[in-house]
Amino acid sequence: MQILNNFSLKSYNTFGIEAKAKHFVSIKSIDDLKSVLSTDNYPEKFILGGGSNMLLTQDVNALVIHIDLKGIEIVEENDNYVEVKAYAGENWHSFVQWCLKHDFGGLENLSLIPGNVGSAPIQNIGAYGVELKDVFVSCETLEIGSLKTALFKFDDCRFGYRESIFKQEAKGKYIITSVTFLLTKKDHILNTKYGAIEAELQQMSVSNPSIQDISKAVIAIRQSKLPDPKEIGNSGSFFKNPVIHIEHFEEIKSNFPEIPSYFISESEVKVPAGWLIETAGFKGKTLGDYGIHKKQALVLVNYGNAKGSDIFDLAVLIQNTIYRIFKIEIEIEVNII
Ligand code: EPU
Repeated sequence: MQILNNFSLKSYNTFGIEAKAKHFVSIKSIDDLKSVLSTDNYPEKFILGGGSNMLLTQDVNALVIHIDLKGIEIVEENDNYVEVKAYAGENWHSFVQWCLKHDFGGLENLSLIPGNVGSAPIQNIGAYGVELKDVFVSCETLEIGSLKTALFKFDDCRFGYRESIFKQEAKGKYIITSVTFLLTKKDHILNTKYGAIEAELQQMSVSNPSIQDISKAVIAIRQSKLPDPKEIGNSGSFFKNPVIHIEHFEEIKSNFPEIPSYFISESEVKVPAGWLIETAGFKGKTLGDYGIHKKQALVLVNYGNAKGSDIFDLAVLIQNTIYRIFKIEIEIEVNII
């Protein structure tokens, strides 16, 4: 285990922002993790996973601990189900592909999401009608203060839309070291109800889809709308989709009859932030090296050497404009560092 100084984080964040870690270490075992956490030499510590849900607006004046724990294990199985444990440093999409190769179902709709397994429960990643919580069993963690392991079961995690206990009370207190999923071995439950998937499957001329077909459809949809972080720096959806009261929604609808909506209760409506941002005129706008993606207004992008603070200022401008037009506060989903 080697501690490096003044280390560039550019290739460790999917936004591709140049920022320096005062100290940096890559961790490949729980023992190394415990030993680095117990040292007093570096009082400030910063935990880094896949770097896919953060915007670096400054250098990180701390020891950056990059969680690089690898491994995938079958914990338990019967004829119908399998419990699979993946270590935190496994790349999410590679893990999904591993499951599909073994014909284990449940994660196919979550194909091509950037980031690592260990970060997935923190924001309860979700796409195309499925959320991580739908297949989650538990996660093992290391409590930073005590260096004791702690198991979080489903109920402990208090999952919500892009939410969990790890963004609330447990924030900064635990490091997720592995996640266990319950997957199907046969009679897979296919989630094709999300409109774009059915249309994509039709285009692929697939009428009786397998989980592998669904993954291919999701990959095609994502590639057509969302920028690949290897080519254009980004952190996926920058904002959460806001939930508003029905009366507020009706008021907006009278001026904007085409507003898309998802009723989540009798009194609450979720509206796509992407639509709000597009309607406010931001879609595809560029300011030098950064801007708003041309195909999905919810995604802010770095075309080259943008500064995180500039992207953050743009995000605030978008928030203020949306508030001025619609009286809706849209919440930033990405962690601002
Ligand atoms: N829309 C617009 N303009 C845009 C973008 C979207 O009008 O620029 C409209 C679309 O026409 C559609 C609606 O907004 O009516 C929803 O769009 P989309 O299906 O693209 O989904 P989203 O709500 O914008 C969410 C997730 C994505 C996930 C997709 C698909 C959040 C914050 N984002 O986006 O997650 O891939 O659904 O399930 O919930 C991520 O979290 O990084 C992410 C990419």
